[in-house]
Amino acid sequence: MSHSNSEPSAAAAETFLIGGDLPVHRLGYGSMQLTGPGAMGEPADLEQARNVLRLAVELGVTLIDTADSYGPGVPERLIGETLHPYRKDLVIATKGGFIRGHRGEWITDGRPQHLRDALEGSLRRLRLDSIDLYQLHRIDHKVPLADQIGAMEEFRRRGLIRHIGLSEVTLQELQVAQTQTQIATVQNLYNLTERRSEDLVSYTAENNIGFIPWFPLATGQLTTPSGPLAKIASRTGAAPSQIALAWLLQHSPTILPIPGTSSPAHLRENIAAAHLKLTTEDMAALDAA
Ligand SMILES: NC(=O)c1ccc[n+]([C@@H]2O[C@H](COP(=O)([O-])OP(=O)(O)OC[C@H]3O[C@@H](n4cnc5c(N)ncnc54)[C@H](OP(=O)(O)O)[C@@H]3O)[C@@H](O)[C@H]2O)c1
Repeated sequence: MSHSNSEPSAAAAETFLIGGDLPVHRLGYGSMQLTGPGAMGEPADLEQARNVLRLAVELGVTLIDTADSYGPGVPERLIGETLHPYRKDLVIATKGGFIRGHRGEWITDGRPQHLRDALEGSLRRLRLDSIDLYQLHRIDHKVPLADQIGAMEEFRRRGLIRHIGLSEVTLQELQVAQTQTQIATVQNLYNLTERRSEDLVSYTAENNIGFIPWFPLATGQLTTPSGPLAKIASRTGAAPSQIALAWLLQHSPTILPIPGTSSPAHLRENIAAAHLKLTTEDMAALDAA
């Protein structure tokens, strides 16, 4: 794959230390689009999926987000097959706690034995002895929270994972989990048009916890030329997707966006957002939108 000096680089977004010791460029990549429809099965174009993964690393991405339940197992397997042996600075964040039903339903399973089995599968597919960031995909409300956090803590003690993350939690749930262990990241639904987790964005910034907004592009709705960002995009000459990502990067210093795409062209466009600096006026207009 050609690589020229004019290529964008995720390094243009600053570095954040996950858990205080694991550096990542703040603009990452989410791998959920490297599956079939509905995050089930193989992607339509396997070679393109592999190219997207290679290109992400070439463009300076050092944080790739995935989960055992995508596919299930498909992006994790592709990451392992395509990128292993990994660059030393690449952090792969995966998740456990969901199983997929026959029709693709997302079913929470936070029983410690399931989490142990899930982690074992992720380690195998990713070809790793230890996962840098392991996230509980959902709290399973049928299982005591302390048992789920206890399982994650056990994985860390055994050296199977380095840092613990949570996904789709309330501020109160995060604080309860923090009484039991160190939480390095929170991954919640958040983007310009969906700000219900603003309390967590503030809290994570104050406490140096990474906040990984999922659906940073509102599943593509923020990328359309006629969408809510069209006006500011045409004024700045940036693509709407880049405005959405630059806003996230500038909104809080601990936000780590992981835009997803199955397209090399979209990946380049998204990574170029690391170079975009929105003015105070632009930020205020977007905040008020
Ligand atoms: N923790 C959770 O519960 C949870 C839930 C959902 C997602 N996630 C994570 O969050 C990541 C991001 O979410 P996502 O991928 O579902 O949604 P997203 O990043 O908000 O948007 C992805 C969608 O936007 C399109 N797109 C991306 N870049 C574009 C561009 N520059 N121009 C036009 N269209 C563009 C993609 O299509 P193309 O493929 O055609 O580019 C895709 O349909 C996932 O990959 C996953 O790692 C986590």
